Amino acid sequence: MSASREHFSSRLGFILAAAGSAVGIGNLVGFPVNAAKNGGGAFLLMYAIFVIVICLPVMIAEMAVGRKTAKNPVGAYAQLSENDSKWRLAGLLSIITPFMIAVFYTVLTVWIFVYLVFAVSGNLDYIASATAFGEVISSPYLFISMIAVAALVRFILVSGVKDGIERGARIMMPALFIMLILLVIFVLTLDNAFAGVEFYLIPDLDKITPKVVSNALSQAFFSLSLGMGILITYGSYITKETDIAGSAKLVALTDTSVAFIAGLMVLPAIFSFNPNVNPNELSDSGVSLIFNYLPKIFLALQDSTGYVMASVLASVFFLLVFFAAITSLVSIIEVPVAYLIDEKKQTRKKALNTMFLWAGLLAFLTILSAGMVDWLTSLTSYGGKSRSLFDLITDMFYDTILPLNGLLICLFVSYRWKSQKLNEELSIGNAEFSKTFLAKYTNFALGTFIPVFVAVIFIDTVARTYFGYNFFG
Ligand code: TRP
Repeated sequence: MSASREHFSSRLGFILAAAGSAVGIGNLVGFPVNAAKNGGGAFLLMYAIFVIVICLPVMIAEMAVGRKTAKNPVGAYAQLSENDSKWRLAGLLSIITPFMIAVFYTVLTVWIFVYLVFAVSGNLDYIASATAFGEVISSPYLFISMIAVAALVRFILVSGVKDGIERGARIMMPALFIMLILLVIFVLTLDNAFAGVEFYLIPDLDKITPKVVSNALSQAFFSLSLGMGILITYGSYITKETDIAGSAKLVALTDTSVAFIAGLMVLPAIFSFNPNVNPNELSDSGVSLIFNYLPKIFLALQDSTGYVMASVLASVFFLLVFFAAITSLVSIIEVPVAYLIDEKKQTRKKALNTMFLWAGLLAFLTILSAGMVDWLTSLTSYGGKSRSLFDLITDMFYDTILPLNGLLICLFVSYRWKSQKLNEELSIGNAEFSKTFLAKYTNFALGTFIPVFVAVIFIDTVARTYFGYNFFG
């Protein structure tokens, strides 16, 4: 089986694909706003430390498990635990989680696609209007857009790892960097832009509370595609010549840089639009920022640039976000697809059809749950709030089960597979690895404080989300 497994063509191809997975909507808008509100430079520093100290070892562990077994997460857990049924369950969780995340992320991507089409077709004034978002999320266009997004993702995935996933990333990632840099340069020339830079970067230690620390850690963890089975799956497609630890460092660096640079676009744009803005009052959610706030900023640019140029900039921005979303969506859908191919012996085409049927059906219901159908919109309630199907999926899988999966992989690698074996795998492609500080650190940290930190996030999320109880104030 593993002899015929497809591989990424090179280390760069793998890094671009994994970075494409990690860079998403959260990097482009969630991160900058979070940073600005929560201590600026102090938050950035803390975030960077968490990426290195907590996330990097987990990323390395996931990639190593994938490459060692050349299997999807279920197969990987099963093989390394010698079919221990407890660990099979952990593997299964690593398939269900990405499946459910794919469902809600599809909905977000579809919304972005609709905004992109509006911006490109000269309707920036419409998407900047107060009622647009509410109308878009309950419009029949969504279903056509969903078909378009699904067709694009299927087109990429059907060609396989090298000609599909890797080629997609090789086109979209450089395009994404270029668009991001162009937008940053443009935004920094606007009046008052530097007030935004200042707000973003000047450290404010007083704002660093336990809650902010815990947010920074969860944001870093989620942003890097950890706990989703993605890095196990992508890891299963890397060749034995590839240096895993070195690649993981570059993926983490790319993801963090994109998030950081995005802040140099988003915050100056906000300040230029409204010099008296108090970023602390901006909504926490990337969703409301992208769909309600940023279109207004782009429209306001027409006073200085004219409507056409403002529309061009908005189009570039939405294309950027769209590319970021597509590369993430591709990576997350590949996980259950790889499972169906490896474990259920389906062909790639058949696996994709199975996936699109079920994910499509659920995504359809999730789209309806954003206001179109009442019982799906107010499906349930917990933690003192009414929750839609969309909210339920995000809370359960994105917020809750993700850290649990992270915890399981740390425990699995340290106590079942064992550090010795991890080191052996990591030394393939990097003969000196076990002598490095990173090797010693990774072995120690994965078996000790990383699982403790991740467990704390898990417990805090459960308490806060389902019981409305805040440990961290
Ligand atoms: N970094 C992504 C974001 O900021 C989060 C993410 C990581 C993600 N991997 C993913 C989302 C895979 C969807 C699918 O949005």
